[in-house]
Amino acid sequence: MSGKNKRFTVTAALPYANGPIHIGHLAGVYIPADIFSRYQRLINNDVAFICGSDEHGVAISLQARKESITPKELIDRYDKLIRDSFEKFGISFDNYSRTSREIHHKNSIELFNELNEKDLFSSKTTKQYYDTEAEQFLADRYIIGTCPICDAENAYGDQCENCGSTLSTDELKNPKSTISNSKPILKDTKHWYINLNEFEDFIKDWITKEHKDDWKPNVTGQVKSWLDNGLKSRAVTRDLDWGIPINVEGEEGKVLYVWFEAPIGYISSTKEWAEKNKKDWSKYWKDENTKLVHFIGKDNIVFHCIIFPIILKMLGDYILPFNVPANEFLNLEGRKISTSRNWAVWLHEYLEDFPNMQDVLRYVLTVNAPETKDNDFTWKEFQMRNNSELVAIYGNFVNRVLTLIIKYYNGIVPNPDSLDNSNKKIIEQAKGFPKSIGKSLDEFKFREAIKSLVNLARIGNKYLADSEPWKLQKSNPEKVKEILYVGYIIICYLTILSEPFLPNTAKKLKSQLNLEEIKNWNDLDSLNTKIDFSSNIESKEVLFRKIEDDEIIRQIEKLKKMSNQ
Ligand code: 2FM
Ligand code: ZN
Repeated sequence: MSGKNKRFTVTAALPYANGPIHIGHLAGVYIPADIFSRYQRLINNDVAFICGSDEHGVAISLQARKESITPKELIDRYDKLIRDSFEKFGISFDNYSRTSREIHHKNSIELFNELNEKDLFSSKTTKQYYDTEAEQFLADRYIIGTCPICDAENAYGDQCENCGSTLSTDELKNPKSTISNSKPILKDTKHWYINLNEFEDFIKDWITKEHKDDWKPNVTGQVKSWLDNGLKSRAVTRDLDWGIPINVEGEEGKVLYVWFEAPIGYISSTKEWAEKNKKDWSKYWKDENTKLVHFIGKDNIVFHCIIFPIILKMLGDYILPFNVPANEFLNLEGRKISTSRNWAVWLHEYLEDFPNMQDVLRYVLTVNAPETKDNDFTWKEFQMRNNSELVAIYGNFVNRVLTLIIKYYNGIVPNPDSLDNSNKKIIEQAKGFPKSIGKSLDEFKFREAIKSLVNLARIGNKYLADSEPWKLQKSNPEKVKEILYVGYIIICYLTILSEPFLPNTAKKLKSQLNLEEIKNWNDLDSLNTKIDFSSNIESKEVLFRKIEDDEIIRQIEKLKKMSNQ
């Protein structure tokens, strides 16, 4: 909370535009990234919170083929749905772009050419499967055949779903193209590679030594095991008809590998935002005082901690990530979330069943985030956390204080002449919360931070129960004023500190309490001058409602039914 402004470039993994967003995405990436960005803005730091749809790659073209539509139709449909879910859940991106946009095609080709001209790639010609009828090379997923390990038919070129083995296409027996059903031939093709092995020492020094204490152990641990296995060169081009064409003469039909260009999408999205807002994009990527933070899930660690930093390093004048607080996975009712098996809670469907209850899901997914290990989301816990924490602690405390202020003083906040020592102490305690919650957030400990927030409400509840103002209204009205003033101050802190976590709740409370003037956490230092002691508090809106058993039973049944279809 120092007065000095810092600059942050915060990125959240670009979601593939081939399906809707589910609670696993939200818990692992978008909620923590949003909390972090909102918090940094609230302490007066400069933030560019960047994201966009990831719209190339085999996953997209395969899905389009499955749905018998064009890739363009597919990405348009899902980009819209994804955008809409993010907006409804209050994910406060400064820019949400698309990798199919021209600005990104131009930017990634420019960076590819720059590295190519500097001779930093190596190129190699290898033999790859080619479909002579469809006249195209085949990505691994476009080849099926017999698994060399378990003999199952229809194993994919890269994996057998029957025995789980990772395969390479040349191991597959009786390979067949899924496009034309014909037998593919092996044909020479040239590709460009990054020699990751040349950067092993750089990654080792930078992550496993320099960041061994300030990065999450699940992240440094994964990097270390990649290093232990030795880094191999990786192709940055592919033979595909969907992607960003490299336009090298004589090499038609080649596109950039999606994992080469998608992270560059963060830079393209920043450029798009900077153009719209008359800012200098390079400050957010090239100024060494800027802190670059990538929010991702654990399956993206190698790309954000090894491959993309190596690309940035090769380019030369870019900053490296300050931190990559990757999360583990969220399971659902004891099983891995699976799009293909429809074992997921989709955001757009959640909102149909729990309209206007975005903050409840934000809360549950934060308090139970898979921060250090995989975690489980259950509808029972969702209900329990809502009913016994948001309703019984947070909502109940706010409601009790405001009801008494309305009842005793017509909604005008009391302003006592003095406070006794015990009351002063409670206020001092509340004053410590911005700093402690801020510290947790600075350290990417989102669970700890949101638990502190609820603890503040817990302190308020206990204070109210201990001081029993309803018994003193006749005998000691001055004391009642003090108690309700203190209660009100705690609500103010709760409101302002809730903004990163529960933005809708904070907004409701701010407007109800005339606290709109408080724009950031530093304003809490002069809270008394910002409180409106003259106008009435508007009548109370219910912040959180109880969730009944039958609502939860219905969700569990829905999940089982959908996944059996
Ligand atoms: O895993 C994924 O969903 C990828 N679409 C993430 C891309 S993040 C990035 F580097 F752009
Ligand atoms: Zn197998």
